Amino acid sequence: MNRQRVCVLGSTGSIGVNTLDVLARHPDRYEVVALSAMSRVDELLAQCLAWQPRFAAMPGREAAARLRERLREAGCRTEVLDGAAALAEVAAHPDVDTVMAAIVGAAGLAPAIAAARAGKRLLLANKEAIVVGGALFMHAVEEGGATLLPIDSEHSAIFQCLPEDRATWHERIDHIVLTASGGPFRQRDPKTLADVTPDQACAHPNWVMGRKISVDSATMMNKALEVIEARWLFNLTPEQIKVLIHPQSIIHSMVVCRDQSVLAQLGTPDMRVPIAYGLSFPERITSGASRLDLLTTPSLTFEEADAVRFPGLHLSWQALRGPEGTTTVLNAANEVAVDAFLNGRLRFDRIHAINSQCLADVQPGDCGSIESLLDLDARTRDHARRLV
Ligand SMILES: NC(=O)c1ccc[n+]([C@@H]2O[C@H](COP(=O)([O-])OP(=O)(O)OC[C@H]3O[C@@H](n4cnc5c(N)ncnc54)[C@H](OP(=O)(O)O)[C@@H]3O)[C@@H](O)[C@H]2O)c1
Repeated sequence: MNRQRVCVLGSTGSIGVNTLDVLARHPDRYEVVALSAMSRVDELLAQCLAWQPRFAAMPGREAAARLRERLREAGCRTEVLDGAAALAEVAAHPDVDTVMAAIVGAAGLAPAIAAARAGKRLLLANKEAIVVGGALFMHAVEEGGATLLPIDSEHSAIFQCLPEDRATWHERIDHIVLTASGGPFRQRDPKTLADVTPDQACAHPNWVMGRKISVDSATMMNKALEVIEARWLFNLTPEQIKVLIHPQSIIHSMVVCRDQSVLAQLGTPDMRVPIAYGLSFPERITSGASRLDLLTTPSLTFEEADAVRFPGLHLSWQALRGPEGTTTVLNAANEVAVDAFLNGRLRFDRIHAINSQCLADVQPGDCGSIESLLDLDARTRDHARRLV
């Protein structure tokens, strides 16, 4: 069997590291051809020494130069690519079969679209790429003949509950239910959220993740982005996507069929499960996750998503009903607001105000190319920064 040649974009992040963990369990099936990072040179160096990939991509020239020098000293022959186009170049490289898109934020849009247009097997963790890219992203997947596989645990769960033949999805699905843990502030009085610190917001009860998605989980903007992601991945109307709080994160999401049969996917909260499924689909490989023992699992409980506690969640449906590009605006505003919060320039409870104000103020315009989407993204970021 030929080994799948894998490019891991964002290999130094939480999803990237989990991906390498799964790949390391199956050296007979996978070969790492390319890795990428933004700033963590030491981590990427260690990964290059361990995996000896053909390419390492770092957009920043200075960080790339440092990595190049350190690799040379260590006698490692990995070629370092830099500059704005380096990520798209490795993602579309003819020697790559599978791309794990695990960059955080809209920065992952261009490489994910490059992988889609080049017809890769595209494992999508980087939800912001599909939220920003919307129809253009899905068109690139179709045009390039790419195989798009969701990595977000909720979307992987939905995908696992559906048959392989996508043509049957439409007639089968009544609606889907995305589950949400409720994050670290599920039970906290919303009036006390003004003083929340970044470390408190990042202390997720069930998952260990990068800091941006952790803050998004605390505001439930992560679920808002997932609602938008689900709209595109499964070709649903906004009304067909529902959210339910499930604090134990054991049921990862559900499909409610036309006949009202409910299909769910369960498992311990471990991202290596959806990653392994994306890598091996339609087969199954071991992931390293521990077994779900229902006898020792606490009761599975469910709550309505509280609109007062989590106002951000409802911006997803608002954005989906707006003109094309509205979801790009929402994502850009949120990236600026979360960054400002993590850097001590914005109160936690002001993130929502920035996001909803940008939705009200920024007019999308043309969304027919990556350039126009990135222009809209940049315009929104400028506006959000002024508001911060
Ligand atoms: N973590 C999870 O459990 C989880 C679950 C579901 C979905 N996701 C999604 O997966 C994506 C990655 O999340 P994560 O938690 O793994 O994030 P993370 O730990 O912050 O890692 C992000 C990765 O992207 C790189 N990166 C950051 N900014 C970049 C830029 N401007 N250009 C190129 N590369 C950049 C980082 O490089 P440096 O290390 O050098 O900074 C790192 O390798 C996000 O879209 C998130 O929503 C994550």
